[in-house]
Amino acid sequence: MRNSVAGLTVRAPAKINLHLGVGAVREDGMHPLLTVYHAVGLYDDLSAIPAPDWRVGVDVEDYIDPAAVPLDGDNIVDRAATLLAAHHGVARSGDLQVTKAIPVAGGMAGGSADAAAALVALDRLWRLETSDEDLLALAARLGSDVPFALVGGTAVGTGRGEIVTPVADHGTWWWVVVLSPEGLSTPEVYRHFDRLFPDAPATPPAAGELLAALDSGDPHRLAATLHNDLQAPALDLRPDLARRIATGEAEGALRGLVSGSGPTCVFLCESGDHAREVAGALLAGSEPPVVLVANGPVAGAHVVTHG
Ligand code: C5P
Repeated sequence: MRNSVAGLTVRAPAKINLHLGVGAVREDGMHPLLTVYHAVGLYDDLSAIPAPDWRVGVDVEDYIDPAAVPLDGDNIVDRAATLLAAHHGVARSGDLQVTKAIPVAGGMAGGSADAAAALVALDRLWRLETSDEDLLALAARLGSDVPFALVGGTAVGTGRGEIVTPVADHGTWWWVVVLSPEGLSTPEVYRHFDRLFPDAPATPPAAGELLAALDSGDPHRLAATLHNDLQAPALDLRPDLARRIATGEAEGALRGLVSGSGPTCVFLCESGDHAREVAGALLAGSEPPVVLVANGPVAGAHVVTHG
């Protein structure tokens, strides 16, 4: 007899892009990427218990606006469950509760983390034993960043971001993460990239120097090679972010940049103490934003408690 699963909690990390090279838009409307994903210690948790019906509830940290979380019938957790259930020919059931700490529409792949957490949790809850290969393929159908949320660590992303290859990263990198009360739409930032760079190359810029910097373990070297092709369109749409980056760098961060499509900004620091110092300085300003400290790399979606 198989052990029954009473319930479990899966934790999935936020990502930042250490390098985000974007090529000219493809015929399917997506952009070819050469990115270096980096999972950082800021997490959404998803708890799942058996139930005859299907329910998804959401709790949020106090800095997240609950109204910004899409809870209609087509949220990404529902879609993950539908896809996994269809893949195995089983019915969708369970009582799920998502606890969100990753900003919504923040450029840190919070929705992708929830999708990855749902795939891992429901695979266990429904005792499906889906192969890693199938889980990654289902993840890719849910969104470009979802496979990385399963894999975690530091990894190169190619294709539209869904082809993930882990890279060696022996460092511990410290980040100050500055949230923005209003989100930015990822498709809108990509469309603005197309307007700003009509002659973007078909092949996105490579990340060789950044990978060498990662290998060196030297945060100053990493700071010099961080790169985000979506930063120019994000700053154009949200000029306030340029000031935010300048402030963080003036407070001593080695380098600030927009995370993914923004509007979250991340600041690389020398150490945990240095990151807490920079965070403290940003919090002492006249209109303090929400400021977090996180390090990376951390694991992808993983079970933290078994029921
Ligand atoms: O794959 P995902 O659902 O996360 O993508 C959301 C949107 O972001 C896409 O519909 C597209 O507008 C844009 N996108 C893109 N190129 C990528 C990834 C995302 O244009 N490589």
